[in-house]
Amino acid sequence: MKGYKRDILSLLLCVFLVLTTGCGGSDKKTVNTSVEENQIYKDNTYSTEDRVKDLLSKMNVDEKIGQMVQAERVNITPEEVRKYYIGSVFSGGGSTPKDNSPKGWIEMIKQYQQGAANTRLGIPIIYGVDAVHGHNLVKDAVIFPHNIGLGAANNTELMKKIASVTAEEMLATGVTYNFAPCVAVTKDLRWGRYYEGYSEKVDIVKNLSSAYINQLQTYNVAATAKHYIADGATEWGTGDNGYKIDQGNVEIDEDKLFKEELAPYDEAVKSGVKSIMVSFSSVNGIKNHSNKYLITEVLKGKLGFKGFVITDWEGIHQIPDAEFEEQVVIAVNAGIDMLMEPNKWKDAVSALKKAVNNGKITMERIDDAVARILTVKFDLGLFENGLGDEKLIRNGFGSKEHREVAKEAVRESLVLLKNDGVLPLKKSQKIYVTGPAADSVGLQCGGWTIDWQGNMRQTSGTTILKGFKNIAEKHGGTIITDIEKAKDADVAVVVIGEESYAEGQGDDGSLGLDNGMALKGNIEALEEAKKLNKPIVTIMVSGRPRIVTEYLKDWNAFVEAWLPGTEGEALAEVLYGDYNFKGTLPVTWPKNSHNLPIKEENILFPIGYGLKY
Ligand code: BGC
Ligand code: BGC
Repeated sequence: MKGYKRDILSLLLCVFLVLTTGCGGSDKKTVNTSVEENQIYKDNTYSTEDRVKDLLSKMNVDEKIGQMVQAERVNITPEEVRKYYIGSVFSGGGSTPKDNSPKGWIEMIKQYQQGAANTRLGIPIIYGVDAVHGHNLVKDAVIFPHNIGLGAANNTELMKKIASVTAEEMLATGVTYNFAPCVAVTKDLRWGRYYEGYSEKVDIVKNLSSAYINQLQTYNVAATAKHYIADGATEWGTGDNGYKIDQGNVEIDEDKLFKEELAPYDEAVKSGVKSIMVSFSSVNGIKNHSNKYLITEVLKGKLGFKGFVITDWEGIHQIPDAEFEEQVVIAVNAGIDMLMEPNKWKDAVSALKKAVNNGKITMERIDDAVARILTVKFDLGLFENGLGDEKLIRNGFGSKEHREVAKEAVRESLVLLKNDGVLPLKKSQKIYVTGPAADSVGLQCGGWTIDWQGNMRQTSGTTILKGFKNIAEKHGGTIITDIEKAKDADVAVVVIGEESYAEGQGDDGSLGLDNGMALKGNIEALEEAKKLNKPIVTIMVSGRPRIVTEYLKDWNAFVEAWLPGTEGEALAEVLYGDYNFKGTLPVTWPKNSHNLPIKEENILFPIGYGLKY
């Protein structure tokens, strides 16, 4: 309450000063008449700070509380956005409008914005999605390699191009809030979210994520560094929500926590990241969603984070020994500003109201949270255009230009792990292309593509097989896919891989080529190829290393392709030698799945490894 009064006092003081001395100094207008004063928050010639102060002073408790709640699109109507003053709506994995095209998205978001515009103060919502490898929920968007592949490419200029394309495709659909990048420093490849992290090396994570954040936000699209904190360091067997390692716990001393886990957030805050998402996981037995020390003292205090902190999907429900209302109180008092409550958003609104009334949450805490959210909304220009700044869209959605950037990313992400000289392939050769991942856009893209767990439904893209065919066709080569004709081939290319998965559903303790998340046909395809007595080139499409130790001797070349996304032709370009390999391992590749996390004696290929022609 005190800070609130102080704000009004300083506003009045400034009015007085303007009238008497004409203070100012910046190119932004300062407050000068009481008539204008009423309109300050609507006038973008004032500074964001002035606009936030003005708007906050006009808001009642219900309007403030609504800003702090985020609902999932399937559970809320535009009319409910109006009635409850809701601050944000989002799409979870796979949650798309029926018409899953840019037009369908714009139409949907316009309706929510209309609901918000119909409130007394007309505060726009901010619409969020997980555009974690391109604008991946939308049909025919360009899909980039998942972050682990970008860690292999390790190129900040490339990251900027990817961020630009992602922002442009988001703006083409009216979405201005991205739950990306994931800045997890990945420690254990059994984790189902391993591919969402760039690397096990903190410097790679810092450099790539800050390049992405900076560039995305130049488009007035808010980035989110997630998941705070140490989500990549949890220990096998501690997982929560029925998972083995995902959402689990890490025992770690503060020195190590700050050096290895806080560092990417420090960098993100320096880059001006607008939002930070809290992790489901725990540090030293305490759920991050309840950790006031780490959120308020460390993140907002020590690091000086000025944006807003959002929960993960019902993340507060995992705070132990408390009912929902108490969980809301604990989380908000820990420093959380926005509650991602896809289903229970109405309960969140009433819990907040009750907590304010009975004094369990102070008005000062509410004002701080709302000021942070409004600051982001003003800075993004949402009060001027709730659908984002369309002027910033240079190229079309899913365009050829955008796909070129994705191809570049794929070429740079491939890692050559073995080559006895069989690569590069010659374009005139007869090549037998086989394996369960050879002809599938869905497997190439992995999780977080159209659906949460990934999807085999068609989105436009080029499979690896089609890529080979396209190039061979132009140069008089032959691609053979029929096993009956395989004996005529000069070389066999076997594309093996993993099922697609997201989050804890991809937790996998076995990591072989024939168990856990491995594709069913891997071994069969490899054995068939071996019987041909031809050179074998193995390509693996996977979100992490899998154990290849006993097979490697049978392969003349081995390429890790990660989860490359929609542009499979780029693989063929590199294998044919139009481009050299550039990628290096962003993580350590183990010999076996027993000594994990990886110990010295269990290294097959070290981090940084990667051959060239
Ligand atoms: C994930 C987040 C994601 C959120 C919204 C959660 O389950 O952990 O990374 O941003 O869902 O889809
Ligand atoms: C949603 C995801 C979310 C997950 C959390 C799914 O139903 O689609 O976005 O991350 O639930 O459990």
